[in-house]
Amino acid sequence: QFTPRVFSGIQPSGNLHLGNYLGALKRFVEMQNEGIETVYCMVDLHAITVWQDPEELRRATRELCAGFIASGIDPKKSILFNQSQVPEHTQLAWIFNCVARMGWMQRMTQFKDKAGKNAQNASLGLFAYPALMAADILVYHATHVPVGEDQKQHLELTRDIAMKFNHDYGIDFFPITEPVIEGAATRVMSLRDGAKKMSKSDASDASRLNMTDDADTIARKIRKAKTDPDALPSEPKGLDDRPEARNLVNIYAALADQSVEAVLRESGGRQFSEFKPMLAELAVEKLSPISAEMSRLMQDTSEIDSILAQGAGRARAIAAPILRRTYEIAGM
Ligand code: ADP
Ligand code: NA
Repeated sequence: QFTPRVFSGIQPSGNLHLGNYLGALKRFVEMQNEGIETVYCMVDLHAITVWQDPEELRRATRELCAGFIASGIDPKKSILFNQSQVPEHTQLAWIFNCVARMGWMQRMTQFKDKAGKNAQNASLGLFAYPALMAADILVYHATHVPVGEDQKQHLELTRDIAMKFNHDYGIDFFPITEPVIEGAATRVMSLRDGAKKMSKSDASDASRLNMTDDADTIARKIRKAKTDPDALPSEPKGLDDRPEARNLVNIYAALADQSVEAVLRESGGRQFSEFKPMLAELAVEKLSPISAEMSRLMQDTSEIDSILAQGAGRARAIAAPILRRTYEIAGM
């Protein structure tokens, strides 16, 4: 009943990193090249749920767009746009704020993580953000959403909202979207702490490989990455209870487009003193062309602005009729 359509987004909150690339961008490109309709968004309205300096947000939004293109997103094949330029997202989000239940929202673990101890001082937007995310997806009737593992719970909420809307209004209007969480690196961990995910907001720059890092920085961060004193095992089971070791092997596998099994068959028995330089070389080989292309694109931001403006027009052409029909269904 629903034509396959892929939607996903990334926050332009600076520090685009290897986790975003392996967990999201790399998959976005693969799905684009499988010939499915793909819609990708810089979700600036999500970014401002925590304070963003306006000039920095403007810059980071363009840099993120450059990151999409440099990673292989073709603005002719994919719709590439900025969330705030398509008002249908927030218009649908209001309907969903009235569909979602307080209890559902209060279970969201990312809110608890991001709000920290002082949740009373978090913005209302940070609390409501998963309902806006549901609107981002469903305003396109998207059937598939490629994301990292950290977004799994939000995708379940999106499905719950679609089901409740369909049930309450007695119409099969929104698709029950499938998360696509695939590959060896759906959860890239911090290079400094195997218990924390690699994140834009980690205060330690050494905890992540930024997509804009130069070759020397990449090599240095990998050399200093936390590991344990043991050699690599020859099977994945040998990585149990070794989160830092597992993380570096997962990163290698994802960058090399190999399975973890294949990497360990090849590198089992190696010490990290040997494996880290191999990983650094591979990371530099895969990431430097992207970072070089990003800085080239950032030299003329008018090209980026025009890509985003065109993308917003194409996005609205899909979203506007779906929004109009939603309001009609709800009696407006
Ligand atoms: P961040 O969490 O770094 O602020 P976003 O929330 O904008 O990034 O997430 C953008 C995409 O990147 C999402 O699909 C998310 O699941 C994915 N992602 C973020 N961090 C990681 C990670 N450490 N490993 C794998 N995927 C990740
Ligand atoms: Na995230």
